[in-house]
Amino acid sequence: MQLLKIEGGDRLSGELDLQGAKNSVLPLISACVLTGGITRLTRCPELSDVYAALRILSSLGCKCRLSDGCAEIDARTLSGCEIGDKLMRQMRSSIIFMGALLGAVGECVMSFPGGCELGPRPIDMHISALRQLGAEITDEHGRLICRCPKGLHGCTVNLPFPSVGATENIMLAAVCAEGETVIVNAAREPEIAELGRFLNFCGARIKGAGCHRVVIEGVPRAELHGCEFEVMPDRIAAATYLCAAAASGGEAHIRGARVCDLEAVTNVLRQSGCRVTASGSGIYICAPPLLRCVNTVRTCPYPGFPTDAQAIVMAAFAKSKGMGLFVEDIFENRFRHVDELVRMGADIKTEGRVAVVRGVDRLTGAQVSAPDLRGGAALCVAACAAEGETTVSNVCYIDRGYDSIEKALGALGAKIRRV
Ligand code: EPZ
Repeated sequence: MQLLKIEGGDRLSGELDLQGAKNSVLPLISACVLTGGITRLTRCPELSDVYAALRILSSLGCKCRLSDGCAEIDARTLSGCEIGDKLMRQMRSSIIFMGALLGAVGECVMSFPGGCELGPRPIDMHISALRQLGAEITDEHGRLICRCPKGLHGCTVNLPFPSVGATENIMLAAVCAEGETVIVNAAREPEIAELGRFLNFCGARIKGAGCHRVVIEGVPRAELHGCEFEVMPDRIAAATYLCAAAASGGEAHIRGARVCDLEAVTNVLRQSGCRVTASGSGIYICAPPLLRCVNTVRTCPYPGFPTDAQAIVMAAFAKSKGMGLFVEDIFENRFRHVDELVRMGADIKTEGRVAVVRGVDRLTGAQVSAPDLRGGAALCVAACAAEGETTVSNVCYIDRGYDSIEKALGALGAKIRRV
């Protein structure tokens, strides 16, 4: 099992080129199924979740290659519509292949997506929306059998919650559906706008992706084609590296980061005493020796504070002046990093969806274990601020979403190595 060893305590100072966004490239990879052509995705991050998604495409008959940060996907040879259990369990977001396959070939068979560490990951909104579009979905012993005997037809889908995955699934299924589909209360994350932009590059007709109302005008599948597309920068990875610099009282320039994607996070960092500015090519941060703990961080759908940055920002505030409240309103089990931060000397108490952080003036290195993807990244952030050596295990969780986190933190001056 691999470990990350981090010798913390020194202020970070450096710059790095930001990776492509995991939560954008995954829906783009599944969208390739629809195009029936050849697509090149540049600035594609090398992540275990990306490899898992490409393995799913290969199991469906597509030809895939990922090298030098470019994924080449040939969907002309798509021949299957069944995703095996093992592949489905490798990543939660494989559910978005459902919409793409229904849109492409009108049927798909898959098992329930891999549960994940964040608590139950229901897909009720996905299923209900796709049924409204005409899909017949039955659950046979944990396998979802989906068919569209009369094809898919556009309609208005009102989402009870702006679910990112459900919005993506509906968009993918609606691209070739008969007539117009309107998504009301759609998720507004930047990754949704990017999916709309990509699909339009491939010949789809989508308006309003990234807003709360998305209109998709169905087009014949034969009109779709592949394209070349640059993956957007990863806003959560950017938040991670900004927080590592902030936690260590240092500075960093994150090249490629888009300020507009991260305003809720940069506002919190400014409130804590950091200077955060948009440079011509990214985001620059300069932190005070000790952060001022911000009083309340409440996670909510975009453009509110992103749930994926909650653990990361909490780690930065573990060593700070004052006290803060973190309210996790999106997932029910997203404080599993707290016990590990406490092992490093943090003073954090949780009660349900609320965590109370009392800033301490020093953290100490410890042996900690990544509980999930963003919790693992949070431990790396805290380790940069902790005196002494921290060993982080379960690095496989971190590798799901970070393209060589040790290289990125090393570029900022962190003493980090993978063993
Ligand atoms: C996406 O997950 C992201 N994953 C998550 O990032 C992110 O945390 C989440 O959006 C929220 O921003 C990808 O994009 C691959 P949701 P998703 O559907 O689509 C409930 C990371 O760390 N819900 O917006 O699964 C659900 O249980 C990952 O990179 C239903 O109840 O998120 C959750 O409480 C973690 N029924 C809430 O909605 C449904 O049918 C938000 O889920 C669907 C969702």
